[in-house]
Amino acid sequence: MICRISAMSSSSGVCLLLLLLAILYFAEQVTCSRLVVEDEDIGVCQQLTSNGSYVPTNGIPDSDADNILVALNLEYLECEFFLYAVTGEGLDSVEPSLAGGGPSPIGPERANLDALTGDIIYQFALQEIGHLRAIKQTIPDMFPRVQLDLRKEVFSSSMEAALGTQLQEPFNPYNDSLSFLLASYLIPYVGLTGYVGAIPNLQSERSKRLVAGLLAVESGQDAVVRTLLYQRKDDEVPALSMKVSEVTNKLSELRNKLGGKGNVDEGLEVSSCLGAEGKVTGNSLAGDNNSVGYARTPAEIFRIVYGSGNESVPGGFYPQGCKGRFAESFLAPNH
Ligand SMILES: *[C@@H]1O[C@H](CO)[C@@H](O)[C@H](O)[C@H]1NC(C)=O
Ligand SMILES: *[C@@H]1O[C@H](CO)[C@@H](O)[C@H](O)[C@H]1NC(C)=O
Ligand SMILES: *[C@@H]1O[C@H](CO)[C@@H](O)[C@H](O)[C@H]1NC(C)=O
Ligand SMILES: *[C@@H]1O[C@H](CO)[C@@H](O)[C@H](O)[C@H]1NC(C)=O
Repeated sequence: MICRISAMSSSSGVCLLLLLLAILYFAEQVTCSRLVVEDEDIGVCQQLTSNGSYVPTNGIPDSDADNILVALNLEYLECEFFLYAVTGEGLDSVEPSLAGGGPSPIGPERANLDALTGDIIYQFALQEIGHLRAIKQTIPDMFPRVQLDLRKEVFSSSMEAALGTQLQEPFNPYNDSLSFLLASYLIPYVGLTGYVGAIPNLQSERSKRLVAGLLAVESGQDAVVRTLLYQRKDDEVPALSMKVSEVTNKLSELRNKLGGKGNVDEGLEVSSCLGAEGKVTGNSLAGDNNSVGYARTPAEIFRIVYGSGNESVPGGFYPQGCKGRFAESFLAPNH
């Protein structure tokens, strides 16, 4: 309209000028509205009140701290594995105070993740930083980061042990999203069963509150990983020539074997006797015959994460073993 009028006055210069002004005007509007949204965001965050948050309080009983610190070993592992996978950097760059000067992990890599997987794994990484902070604020003298071995070879030997074969090309968790999710399938679930196992042994209300809160988010991570894999359960994993669900079943079988307490780990497709109410073979979440989460003891956790099936024989992700009173009580004095 404006242009037709100015065209009638046969001055295309005026037309262009008007167009430019219009563009500037709208650009201004957009900038303003974005600023308003930012202001609103800040306002929303300032106004949020909640007393549903965990309020760290130190001074919990030593035995509670011992139980919680079993899980700290796993939180360091998850945090570094997820952080490096997305950013190519770890706690030493992002939040060094939480690493406490512990040795840097061996061999973590940035993973070749699609946008959705990368987005979710970055959220997990940040969640793990929060978990470490919550534990540190509760147990200020917690041990520093333990030595972690996140080389692809460690994941590959775990995969080979699960499949019972030697792979022609080693399994590489960092190669693609599916491989990374299969590697992650190993991780939050083990932490989750440890938290379920720890809660009955805790004395103080504060410790129970913390562990319940950590368990909630850890189970959520496990559920997200399982759901992403469940959507692809019938796909073939190219490098393994096996369906996704079969790979998860094999990984769960291996963990059951290493843990040594029978069936507390279940893949994505099970015999219906293990499915919810004995009625389904789809197994998006693992649970007992009342669909209540399974528990593991500290010794069972160490047997699995060491890959040795023996809480006295370190290895796997923890070449020097885990730390804390429980872990160290199983290790030989100068192992
Ligand atoms: C918890 O929230 C309620 C309602 O918002 C408030 O009245 C109460 O004082 C809060 N309690 C604590 C301990 O912050
Ligand atoms: C790596 O990913 C590609 C697809 O992105 C796949 O073709 C190849 O088999 C994968 N290799 C390994 C070792 O997983
Ligand atoms: C559930 O499993 C437990 C332990 O294996 C067994 O004792 C119990 O009878 C089972 N309950 C049902 C309802 O199947
Ligand atoms: C675990 O390893 C220790 C130390 O090597 C050994 O003494 C013990 O017999 C092993 N336990 C089992 C059940 O193999």
